[in-house]
Amino acid sequence: MNQILHIDTSPRGERSHSRTLASDFVANWKNSYLDSTITYRDIGHQIIPPVSETWIAAAFSPPNTHTPELTAALQLSNELIDELQKCDRYIFSVPMYNFSIPANFKAYIDQVCRVGRTFAVNQKGGYEGLLTGKKMLVITARGGSFPAGTPAANFDFQEPYIRTVFGLMGVTDINFVNAENLAMKGDMREQSLQSAKAKLTALITEWD
Ligand SMILES: Cc1cc2nc3c(=O)[nH]c(=O)nc-3n(C[C@H](O)[C@H](O)[C@H](O)COP(=O)(O)O)c2cc1C
Repeated sequence: MNQILHIDTSPRGERSHSRTLASDFVANWKNSYLDSTITYRDIGHQIIPPVSETWIAAAFSPPNTHTPELTAALQLSNELIDELQKCDRYIFSVPMYNFSIPANFKAYIDQVCRVGRTFAVNQKGGYEGLLTGKKMLVITARGGSFPAGTPAANFDFQEPYIRTVFGLMGVTDINFVNAENLAMKGDMREQSLQSAKAKLTALITEWD
């Protein structure tokens, strides 16, 4: 049985390409793997707050020293991390904004990337990810394209950032399906969408 965590990050609703691709994928997945459970969050609309001074004081002090105020500051963070621990497959839909990710997704990452909860620092000062045995699928939507091996690839801070920060937390098995050229007109845009859809259809059987 798979426990899926599905998170949409686009602030757009029906017009969102990343959201539509992800919801079609999850619907197909549920039809193929009937015993899967889905935990869903829409952080494009239910906004995750940025970390605060109280949050930082709480995250970097031992829980047994926490005042009620410090405990409360970590409540949402703990809830989000519990979801990441409980689920074994993550599906994130993510628009590219200014060559990177939307601010609300960054706020989510700041809430879940926590020493002692999702990563540890070992005695040699190295990092150890604590979210082990997880698989992640990231479906991105982009106005332009950033093909590997071309100068444009240097502008893609989205995929490398997501790989790095989730890698820090131990999530290294990550598939990306990037729907690109969505700001282009006509065939280019349509071909890109069809190609993303075909890759996602293949992943229903190949994402093992
Ligand atoms: C604020 C903003 C910034 C954007 N920055 C980029 C960018 O840097 N590169 C790019 O290729 N597309 C960029 N786009 C286009 C979006 O990635 C594209 O519209 C995508 O389809 C948005 O995802 P969604 O359809 O799931 O909402 C930007 C769009 C917005 C609204």
